[in-house]
Amino acid sequence: EDIEKGTYPHYMLKEIDEQPLVIRKIIQAYQNEKDELVVVDDIVKSMKEADRIYIVACGTSYHAGLVGKQFIENMAEIPVEVHVASEFSYNMPLLSAKPLFIFLSQSGETADSRAVLVRIKEMEHRALTITNVPGSTLSREADYTMLLHAGPEIAVASTKAYTAQIAVLAILANVTAKSRGMNLALDLVHELGIIANAMEVLCDTKEEFEKMASEFLPFTRNCFFIGRSLDYFVCLEGALKLKEISYIQAEGFAGGELKHGTIALIEDGTPVIALATQENVNWSIRGNVKEVAARGANTCIISMKGLETEEDRFLLPKVNQLLTPLISVIPLQLIAYYASLHRGCDVDKPRNLAKSVTVE
Ligand code: G6P
Repeated sequence: EDIEKGTYPHYMLKEIDEQPLVIRKIIQAYQNEKDELVVVDDIVKSMKEADRIYIVACGTSYHAGLVGKQFIENMAEIPVEVHVASEFSYNMPLLSAKPLFIFLSQSGETADSRAVLVRIKEMEHRALTITNVPGSTLSREADYTMLLHAGPEIAVASTKAYTAQIAVLAILANVTAKSRGMNLALDLVHELGIIANAMEVLCDTKEEFEKMASEFLPFTRNCFFIGRSLDYFVCLEGALKLKEISYIQAEGFAGGELKHGTIALIEDGTPVIALATQENVNWSIRGNVKEVAARGANTCIISMKGLETEEDRFLLPKVNQLLTPLISVIPLQLIAYYASLHRGCDVDKPRNLAKSVTVE
């Protein structure tokens, strides 16, 4: 284990740092000789034939799926539903006439996801698995596979697999959009290159996030992450990271929902971390920060260059609006890492959790 970890104290930190490299590997893996991003024809055909796509996943992969839905709907204009695998089995939605299922699973072995795959194959629906592990059960049993090329992820808290899933979903959405002749497709090789560079900048700014963790989180019993639109989905993932490895009760909320209940939990000193990377909701999320600050919350805004105001604690490098989850998650991963470290928890092997859950 020590050799693989190299000079890193924990796998999680190593895996966070590997994210720029993983993005570059993904670009390479999906590029053809003309440097265009490509996806196997049969997969693109299945995407185009589908009248609705059902993304099924658990945990961090489910959070990546929420972001993937925005990509597929925005770029390729195909409706998408995202489902937690464990609920899907007994709460199956009414399926459309021509569904395509996408299983997102880092390990490719998660039993809850597999149970859904078995069920929908019995119904003779088509399935694509997006996984980090070639030859895994979910890969073998689906019609198609797309690989994450993230390298082995050892830390229980998933980091590079999340960003890899989002990048691969962006490629899938973009290639499908192009093939459908839509002008919503991005120059993704260029945009993902910018993302990899921005990730590097963030990984080189670790002290900032260590400071935030030691200011906001050492003695707190809870912490809230708020955002709107794509930021909300990243907040769900940020909260999951924090609860998994620091045992702080953390929740991600949609900014607009606070007033419908959660704001009652805000007390003097309650940490509230806000993401503000989306132009169309920039002012409304800042309004939410003011509302919680007025009730005593200890607030911290992470925004993006071009959207900043004086009150912001950290500015992310500017990247394409739709792709912001790939970089806005990194501060949250690092804050969780340092919170866990400062609280003396076992970063790589948190209590009660397993890397791969092979029982339903
Ligand atoms: C476990 C892990 C999580 C992971 C989830 C889904 O609960 O602890 O980190 O997100 O399984 O795993 P998968 O391999 O299907 O992505």
